[in-house]
Amino acid sequence: MSLSPGLLLRDFRLVDETMDMPGSVWIEQGIIRDVFPQGALLPETRLPMHQTIQGGGTLVLMPALVDLHAHFRDPGYPEKETLESGSLAAVAGGYGTVVCMANTKPVIDTLAKARTLKKRADTLGLMDLYPVLALTQGMEGKVLSEIRCLKGPLHESEPWIPMLSEDGKDVVSDDLLYQAMQEARRLGVPLSCHCDAGGPEAEEAKAAGKPREFWSRIEENHATQRVLELAWQAQGHVHIAHVSTKESVDLIRKAKGRRQEKPGPLGFTLTAEATPHHLCLTHGTAHALGDTTWGRVNPPLRTEADRQALIQAVRDGTIDAIATDHAPHTERDKLQGAPGFTGLETSFALCQMELVQQDRLSLSRLSSLMSASPARILGFTDRGRIAPTFRGDLMVVDTEAVWQVNPSLFRSRGKNSPVPGLPCRGRVLMTIYQGRVVFESFLSPDSSSGKGK
Ligand code: DOR
Ligand code: ZN
Repeated sequence: MSLSPGLLLRDFRLVDETMDMPGSVWIEQGIIRDVFPQGALLPETRLPMHQTIQGGGTLVLMPALVDLHAHFRDPGYPEKETLESGSLAAVAGGYGTVVCMANTKPVIDTLAKARTLKKRADTLGLMDLYPVLALTQGMEGKVLSEIRCLKGPLHESEPWIPMLSEDGKDVVSDDLLYQAMQEARRLGVPLSCHCDAGGPEAEEAKAAGKPREFWSRIEENHATQRVLELAWQAQGHVHIAHVSTKESVDLIRKAKGRRQEKPGPLGFTLTAEATPHHLCLTHGTAHALGDTTWGRVNPPLRTEADRQALIQAVRDGTIDAIATDHAPHTERDKLQGAPGFTGLETSFALCQMELVQQDRLSLSRLSSLMSASPARILGFTDRGRIAPTFRGDLMVVDTEAVWQVNPSLFRSRGKNSPVPGLPCRGRVLMTIYQGRVVFESFLSPDSSSGKGK
């Protein structure tokens, strides 16, 4: 892939987790070389052959987003998504890095399968895709996958596998999950846990005919508690995916406190994510969309009290990152009850509107949750910030752009948005990957106004 020789992003509001200031950014060979505060002498006379993009003093330049959790359905379900459509959706949403879950057909449970996927994604040259490896063969929950034979640490041998996960379902056997956690520790990577292995109380509630919103809460809380106990014993890095109940938030907050009081011998590390849909929507939306069809997602959309607990948790750091759980499905599958929402192309706008414009988070904190912090969880030290030596993976945002969610215009094949028709304020106008413009919004009223030669 050819890197752009030089890119000057001029007169922007520069926002990352450590700054919010007017200035300009100089990228060379795909890497940020300089960050200039407003009024500083710019390097344009040094290098005549470069591209300039004008921010006009109002557009915001932020690090490209990093998604810890997406489903690209490739291989196996091209009617839902492919690497191509998923990558286009990702860059349209401002993403430069996406971790893809293994519940494809076949399941990604060997290094060879993961490598094929990674190579194909790299050929597209739009963004960085990282496959996870499933914990068990075929995600059947019976025998550990190839993770048990890999050489560690992976950041030395296979740095393109930054996470392990069986997302899509939980590993029911405590013993097997514990073994997987030990392998993850040996390999030096986080293990992302999809917490819904029920326990007897949830089974009783199900058998008694209680509604899904009742038993699925018991399931998640039980599963989170189980994972935290096993993780404490395994002393590795466990990451909790799509936290959705206030009780799980409390369990995670307590477990993080326990770590500080009594650090384990080898390094119990706990991180957690919440999705834009659980942070911004409640069961009322699921009900209006159809609880068993368009509104169905795992875990389900919950109550306003749960949503407020999640917002408090992203504010106080109990939840470390916002991840999409982008789960594209066809119309047919949704009508038959397939759980999940397409999310890559609306995640930033939803979070900006619900969290930043409502004064719950600063834009800088949102950047941390969607870029720098997920990058840290994956062990990437080269992205997620606007600073010299970091990668030129950036996005241009117009925080005032007014638009409406129209799933038929999504690059994703999954049109199953939970917010079709939603009026939005704030939009990703452009995505830059390693110093090259890989996405530019054709809908923005201002998309050409800021762009220089
Ligand atoms: O709703 C969901 N859909 N949640 C998950 O965890 C998996 C996903 C899928 O793969 O469709
Ligand atoms: Zn998922």
